[in-house]
Amino acid sequence: MKKKILCVVGARPNFMKIAPIMAAFHECAGVTARLLHTGQHYDAAMKQSFFDQLGIPEPDIDLGVGSGSHALQTAEIMRRFEPVLDDERPDAVLVVGDVNSTIACALVAVKKNIPVIHVEAGLRSNDRAMPEEINRVLTDQISEMLFITERSALENLRREGIAEQRVHFVGNVMIDTLLNHRDRAVPPHITLKQAPRPELYQGDYAVLTLHRPSNVDDVNILRRLLECLAKVSENLPIVFPVHPRTKARIESAQLLPLVQTDRFILIPPLSYLEMLGLMAKAKIVLTDSGGIQEETTSLGVPCITLRENTERPITVEQGTNTIVGTDPQRIRTAVDDILRSGGKAGRMPELWDGKSAARIVAIIADWLAAPVKS
Ligand code: UD1
Repeated sequence: MKKKILCVVGARPNFMKIAPIMAAFHECAGVTARLLHTGQHYDAAMKQSFFDQLGIPEPDIDLGVGSGSHALQTAEIMRRFEPVLDDERPDAVLVVGDVNSTIACALVAVKKNIPVIHVEAGLRSNDRAMPEEINRVLTDQISEMLFITERSALENLRREGIAEQRVHFVGNVMIDTLLNHRDRAVPPHITLKQAPRPELYQGDYAVLTLHRPSNVDDVNILRRLLECLAKVSENLPIVFPVHPRTKARIESAQLLPLVQTDRFILIPPLSYLEMLGLMAKAKIVLTDSGGIQEETTSLGVPCITLRENTERPITVEQGTNTIVGTDPQRIRTAVDDILRSGGKAGRMPELWDGKSAARIVAIIADWLAAPVKS
């Protein structure tokens, strides 16, 4: 009988990870993959444009949970997911990344003795103040099969007592998506045609993203960051596609004037292909995102990470990433260094070759076909 996998997505960074996995399952004769969206992200700009552009099938099931505090959101996903599992009875549940949807669905599945498969396992910032770090550590502990993007993840998992035979180094599915879609990226001049002075962005420019609670929830930290970046924009114009939570914080702290100049512009969240096109031609990307550190490494574009740590050390060791934190002087020095030297060229990490999803699906299909599971 055909085996069944239930794949879970919830938030924007999950969508680019699940796209190549669903496509690879589609090609796999022995396994049926169904897609469940928890509804953690629901806006057209945060969800639907990604499904459309990346060719992700419409979810078979949508839990429609929406936003809430961490406890409420996680609890609501769990409450709504349990009857779905009773109904679907999959052979395994596949989760990706580190968002609240990841841990919520993994926890429900494991308690029903349904094996959990975690894609992008083993990454550690070692910063337990990050909600994602808690989600990563806990999801890995209850996963049967763990797929990793870089070798450092294996060390982390070993340290946490996870048996090595459960861990598979397969590369990075987000880079599969990037390589699959790079040719279709939207050129920046189209994305920025509504800018007050679009010609300013035809030469060198920077792209900024900010959404980590540690950077945007404290008004003083947010103001200090934006004031510093406003200074940077005097030399290098900055485009800032803004996450909804960050936009809300900027508005309530009355910081809009800082990011509404000709040379520092706030724009709505972009679709995948717009963001890819904008990053590919940027001089520098400044970010507190995890995935963007990897995407810029793949694109060969210098990245300044506005955090004190990274769970993706390979982007620093081999890629184009520099960890700078949020100190204004350090940020400005890092920007100046890149403007002067061109920044790190970096190289493509091992197995970031566009074939990671195919590897994952082959391993899962073999495992499901085996008479006795490990
Ligand atoms: C979540 C993930 C984070 C990921 C980020 C990418 C967790 C713990 N965090 O953070 O790892 O990097 O997604 O975006 O899961 N909102 C909307 N529309 C939406 C979704 C959210 O307006 O479609 C607003 C709501 O006001 C909501 C806020 O954004 O309260 C935060 O959304 P939430 O899902 O709680 O977390 P993110 O900050 O997006």
